[in-house]
Amino acid sequence: MTFKKFAEFLTAAMMMVNASAILPVSAEDTVLHNADFESGTDGWASFGGTSVTTVSSEHHEGSSCLYVSGRTDSWQGASLSGESILLAGKTYQFNAWVQASGADTIQLTLKYTDGSGNAQYKGISSADSVKGSWAEINASYAIPDDAKDILIYFQTSSGTADFMVDDVTIKGEASWSTGALDRTPLKDVYANYFKLGCAATPAELNTTISQDIVKHHFNSLTPGNELKPDAVLNQAGSQAIGDNVTPAISLDAARYTLKFCEENHISVRGHVLCWYSQTPDWFFKEGFKSDGAVVSKDIMNQRLENYIKAVLNQVSVEFPNLDVYCWDVVNECYLDDGSLRKGGTDPSNQESYWTMIYGDNSYIEKAFTYARQYAPEGTKLFYNDFNEYIPAKRDAIYNMAADLKAKGLIDGIGMQSHLDVGYPDANLYKQCIEKFNQLGLEIQVTELDITDYKNGSDSAQQVQAYRDIVNTIVEEKKNGANITALVFWGITDGTSWRKDGYPLLLNADYSTKKTYDAVEALVPESEWGKAEEIQPTETETVPETETETVPETETESQPEAPAGRTGDADCNGTVNIVDVISINRAVLGKELLSDQGLANIDFNQNGKPDSEESLSVMKYIVGLISADEMKSGK
Ligand code: XIL
Repeated sequence: MTFKKFAEFLTAAMMMVNASAILPVSAEDTVLHNADFESGTDGWASFGGTSVTTVSSEHHEGSSCLYVSGRTDSWQGASLSGESILLAGKTYQFNAWVQASGADTIQLTLKYTDGSGNAQYKGISSADSVKGSWAEINASYAIPDDAKDILIYFQTSSGTADFMVDDVTIKGEASWSTGALDRTPLKDVYANYFKLGCAATPAELNTTISQDIVKHHFNSLTPGNELKPDAVLNQAGSQAIGDNVTPAISLDAARYTLKFCEENHISVRGHVLCWYSQTPDWFFKEGFKSDGAVVSKDIMNQRLENYIKAVLNQVSVEFPNLDVYCWDVVNECYLDDGSLRKGGTDPSNQESYWTMIYGDNSYIEKAFTYARQYAPEGTKLFYNDFNEYIPAKRDAIYNMAADLKAKGLIDGIGMQSHLDVGYPDANLYKQCIEKFNQLGLEIQVTELDITDYKNGSDSAQQVQAYRDIVNTIVEEKKNGANITALVFWGITDGTSWRKDGYPLLLNADYSTKKTYDAVEALVPESEWGKAEEIQPTETETVPETETETVPETETESQPEAPAGRTGDADCNGTVNIVDVISINRAVLGKELLSDQGLANIDFNQNGKPDSEESLSVMKYIVGLISADEMKSGK
């Protein structure tokens, strides 16, 4: 059977919804997942290489919905990980609204690995929809007893047309423990020492329990992937700008997380502006084309400056009340032997385009120079790396940072700290803190996790390793090291990027581990305090040099009169890459702009959207032109 045939067979098989699986759920069910797509994709992601974004040209409740496009097979769609939401053997209530772009049957499908290790696909429920009206999917469904690696996704029964999804809820018996919420917040335990943080992706933040845990315990959050260059850069937009030096950016991937932090007064560690990894290779190529020649150092410098400027500016504009207290400006430049990461075009082989294009480490200073120039005043700028306790690597970073410090460009060093019970010992770790502290820079533990691949979760070795390392951090702080944050890389063992080594403080069901108890116990209760509440800052944090890209009229009119905002094709109150996509789709006849949306972008007043108008909006977004220039159709 060819792959295509197999996919067709699969689709047909899935259409036969298993009636015996429809069971009642209890009235006391908890809302386990609730996606309204108002500020991002709410943990829903591409399934099979599709494009999954939000649009506001259509919506069920609220003002936007999930939009699935770029499909080449009917089974492709948008998916949500069932991790920590859906458990084998339990029954759940699924509810969602869907709309086809023509006429289609849209289906919610369950994918899992069965007890024999085979992938299984089951139709949960489906609804027939035609363009212009929303259809409801509503079903109770029991997850099979032997299911592992559970995922749900929306697809169509046939064809590859775009479709939309809105207001998804999953209800059922919560499979998680709420015990962590009864403990004293860790940020209070450590209030007299440093900020306490975690990393989280939207998928990790999409359960009510994970949100409650983050709000309760942490006053720092690092988006796990969403502010990395590959999440922020937009290739089509960069090509559309057409000047070869201005990349187009968007905060679509990060918006959900940043909004959550802004609303809940949680400070953000920006991660990361310049890195050899998770950066698309077209960013280094002529014309921003995947098959272009690698650009010169001069072109790359301009791209680096424009990228850093655009990202820092866009974050300030979209999230005026968000406290982004620091940024990892540059990540992972050195190798364990202290040499610079090798130049080359294969990041999966540890090679760096940056080293290749610059020939040396001078891009680090460039990145810090631009970050200093464009970051709001007071934002702390960090160099971040792993394995820094290896003396040769530590010393190379020390020397590089000393040079940047002398030039006033760096504020801190991030020690990622992806550790294992077997290595390093706490003494080596301590020597690294002490060495870095000689520089008079801040030190942050930015990505702590300690695996035990051999003995498993909460082994005596793992608990002791946590005790030793975190105690070292606490003792060094007491001895005067300027340690300002301790951040764990993830929330639970179930969703950690190194889940096989059970490296964190909470189990997959959110219950606390012995590692949690050990970390809490390192500070005697008499020293616990109350973590400071962050006071929301206003737009004045945007530096003066940026004011031309943040026109006053724009910030003022944002909450009151979003509908009439110049460039706002989808009338959602912000001007970003989604507006450019909407205009482009409207130019192609794939989407209809509302009257107000058209009025907002019809700069040449010819009554229809044009590609020139989309380009003007793009140039405005990246800070190349002002709002007035956009209006005059530049
Ligand atoms: C990791 C993420 O957690 C994963 O989801 C992703 O697949 C790879 O990157 N050093 C860093 C982080 O600075 O950005 C990395 O995060 C972990 C190592």
